[in-house]
Parts: sequence; C-alpha cells; structure tokens
Amino acid sequence: MDTFECISTKLDIREFSKKNVPAEIKEKILEAARQTGTGLNTQHWRFILVEDKDNLHTLSEDSTSGRWVDGANFAIIILTNPEYGFHMIDSGRVLQNMQLTAWNYGVGSGIFTGINKEKFEKDFTIPKNMNITVTIGFGYPTHKLSGRKKNRLPLHELVYYEKYGSSKI
Ligand SMILES: Cc1cc2nc3c(=O)[nH]c(=O)nc-3n(C[C@H](O)[C@H](O)[C@H](O)COP(=O)(O)O)c2cc1C
Repeated sequence: MDTFECISTKLDIREFSKKNVPAEIKEKILEAARQTGTGLNTQHWRFILVEDKDNLHTLSEDSTSGRWVDGANFAIIILTNPEYGFHMIDSGRVLQNMQLTAWNYGVGSGIFTGINKEKFEKDFTIPKNMNITVTIGFGYPTHKLSGRKKNRLPLHELVYYEKYGSSKI
C-alpha cells in the first residue's frame, strides 16, 4: 500500500475478528519497531508481545481505558526509559510505525494508555524503572472500515504560514 493511503485510511479499532494474524505479519510489525530510530540511537525501548488469551484477558483487566484488548488477536506493550527526555517521542514513532505496518497487511489496531501500573508491573514482570508507555491491540477488523470517516480539523485551522497565526493570503 502507498504510504499516504496507509496513513489516510488507518483508523483505530477496538473490535476484532476471531481470525488469527499470521506469524509472518507479527514478525514484520516487530521488525518495523526494531527499524525505528530513537533519540541518540539509544534503543532504550523494550516490547512485550502478548498472544496468550489468558494474558490478553489480564491485560484487559489491568487497563482502565483499554478493556477492549480482550478481543484482540495479540497485543504489544511498549516500554520506554523515562530517563531520556525524548522517550515519549520515540514511543509515538514506534507506535505509529507498528500500526501502519499492520494496516499495510490489512491488520487493524487500537491503543490504550490508561493502566493500573502496579498490576501491570506484577502481571507482566515489568521492572519499575521502565515506563509503561502504551499498549497496542492488533487483529483483523470485524467489518469494513471504508464507511467510517476520520474526524479531523481542516488544514486551514491547523497550519500557519511563516509565522504563528498567519494564514495564506
Ligand atoms: C496519546 C493517545 C492516547 C490514547 N489513549 C487511548 C486509550 O487509552 N484508549 C483508547 O481506546 N484509545 C486511545 N487512543 C486512541 C484515540 O482515541 C484515537 O487515536 C482517536 O480517537 C482517533 O481515532 P481514529 O484514527 O480512528 O479516528 C489514544 C490515542 C493517543 C494518540
């Protein structure tokens, strides 16, 4: 898929079909993560692949804004090192690269950030010095997304020219 088409058609989904995502696609998603650049090339992040249904259920129970992950085919928890001031920028980049790679193969995804930190750390044996930044749930969409439209501000409300507040003449 063309990069722009991939970006412009990707939506976050929270309902997934029961169809399994092939191992090769999971590998591609993880490889996309590995290929993503980090600030100072520190590669401080770590990723936990969650495929086991019971663990997906635990993930859902440990979340406060991602209960839907219970129905995902698999999930990836992104951990970053908060000692680096840029760790959230790194996280956003790798998150988007993984979501776009998935969508390139027709696999949908959604993300959540609301968690019960103590439960997460305990259930997924996460060291306390790592930041549990975001979790992505992946799976095939249950229905065609072509009917759903993105709700985004128009460009003229977002973009200024040369100086803040200047619109194009
Ligand atoms: C920083 C950030 C945090 C988010 N946290 C959650 C979350 O906790 N739970 C959830 O279901 N979606 C979460 N989302 C997904 C957003 O709701 C979604 O990106 C937005 O509604 C646009 O969706 P669309 O691309 O399908 O239009 C988050 C997105 C971002 C960028």
